[in-house]
Amino acid sequence: MHHAIHPVHVPKKRKTRRASQESSEQKKVKILFVASEGLPFSKTGGLADVVEALPRTLVAQGHEVAVVLPRYRGTKASAVVMPSLTIPMANRLRFPAVLNGTVISGVRYFFVDDPAYFDRDGFYGNSAGDFADNAERYSEFCRAAIEIVKHVWPADVIHCHDWQTALVPVLLRSSYGDDPTVNRIPVVFTIHNMGYHGLFPKDVLERAGIPLPLYNPASLEFYGSVNFLKGGLVYSDYLTTVSKRYAQEIQTPEFGYGLDGVVRSRADRMVGILNGVDYSAWSPDKDKLIPMKYSAKDMSGKQVCKQALLELFGIAPEHAARPVIGIVSRFADQKGFDLIAEQAFELMKEDVSLVVLGSGDRKYEELFQAMANTFSGRAGVKIAYDNEIAHKIEAGADMFLMPSRYEPCGLNQIYSLKYGTVPIVRATGGLDDTVEPFDLERGTGTGFKFAEYSGAAMMYAIRQALHHATDERIWRRIQLNGMAKDFSWKGPAAEYAKVYQAALTLRGGGRAGRNQMSVTTSN
Ligand code: ADP
Ligand code: GLC
Repeated sequence: MHHAIHPVHVPKKRKTRRASQESSEQKKVKILFVASEGLPFSKTGGLADVVEALPRTLVAQGHEVAVVLPRYRGTKASAVVMPSLTIPMANRLRFPAVLNGTVISGVRYFFVDDPAYFDRDGFYGNSAGDFADNAERYSEFCRAAIEIVKHVWPADVIHCHDWQTALVPVLLRSSYGDDPTVNRIPVVFTIHNMGYHGLFPKDVLERAGIPLPLYNPASLEFYGSVNFLKGGLVYSDYLTTVSKRYAQEIQTPEFGYGLDGVVRSRADRMVGILNGVDYSAWSPDKDKLIPMKYSAKDMSGKQVCKQALLELFGIAPEHAARPVIGIVSRFADQKGFDLIAEQAFELMKEDVSLVVLGSGDRKYEELFQAMANTFSGRAGVKIAYDNEIAHKIEAGADMFLMPSRYEPCGLNQIYSLKYGTVPIVRATGGLDDTVEPFDLERGTGTGFKFAEYSGAAMMYAIRQALHHATDERIWRRIQLNGMAKDFSWKGPAAEYAKVYQAALTLRGGGRAGRNQMSVTTSN
């Protein structure tokens, strides 16, 4: 194994007129997505939605895309592509298989199959916490992804997502640095969440088969630990994150979680691209999971959805006329639920009902359970992960609350807009980029926002929303403003295609033998 380290070296190219004309043209690119979760196979959060919809849209725009995922428990795969890869880990070898997981909407799926690592209850951990061998699991996964490029699916560009896949660029530029079949392939890395680093003790280097010289502050070392995400930030050719606002925020100490300096040092290679929405799944006129479809032209179905929702959550009929606030979320500190804890009494003093779907951090499960007990018949909670109920809340609620402490993009507020379910959000990250505050005088705006991270500021925004909800005409205006917005994937996918092109240009066309690339002409 080679331990030479090849820092990201970017030759400066003079842009000739011809080159810039060429690079603005649409070129077909072959992209391998590497991700730790993706629909329709695995999901814990918005990453899985992105990993399903973005590849499909890229294919529709003429590109070729494959997605490699771990084969978690229950994932069906049809055929063996490679019966065993040989993956060095510490002083041992492992032999994961690569399985063929079918083609969906033109997107090819591969699974890395190592039952001892991935056939478990839970992806990243269980009720006892994170799995102790996550570094090894995702290190193997990253190596397997590179091997797929070498032997099965020669990609032009690799697109990685979050810390679990961050060793792909690290290993490509170190262990694989002398391997001409892959060492020029550019890597685009998307940060979906700076709050999760993949932070491990130093001895993990050995255990996970990571070259020891990478343990230095310019690479993976982070205050005496090994930081996978940092490796992704340092070694990728381009970084993207999921909203423009978050791209700014993560360059500051408040949102950077100690990596803001690293992000700032890569700012010239950093692009914010807002996530899109898969409207074939999240649109009230097409949604098969809700009791009655509706659209901006005829909203009567929304009332039917509301009635059904109230019943489902045990909200008493006498509260049916009140606005109902919905929440669908992973229960994590990121999501700002300590503000709700602080304001539980004030919130329920208002003329509202509350329905909550989520699971995760025990303290928030207990909080919402206690609220449902205390305000029985007016607040309901389901501690679960349940896609169907998530759709029913989007359709049946009047308002959707996301008081996030930080939010890289956030998808539920964007879904809410399409369902005429007015979002109340904290003005951070993608929440700030997607929700426009309602302006009574001009009749513009799609929701309600607060800036300061405080219970009082959140209550002020909620009260504003409740105030406007008492005027049917005004409320309908706000709903329709939101429903008219278009956050489809078309635009964002085209922006990613430009980033892939830019990354290819940086690496002189990428994969050896990809001589059809003519962006870097001889002058
Ligand atoms: P994050 O990725 O931080 O969790 P997003 O808003 O980007 O936040 O995406 C969350 C996604 O996960 C949405 O598609 C949402 O509907 C879904 N989701 C979250 N919690 C649940 C749950 N308890 N049941 C069903 N779907 C959920
Ligand atoms: C992350 C973020 C969320 C984002 C999602 C998809 O989980 O928390 O804001 O929408 O990734 O990019």
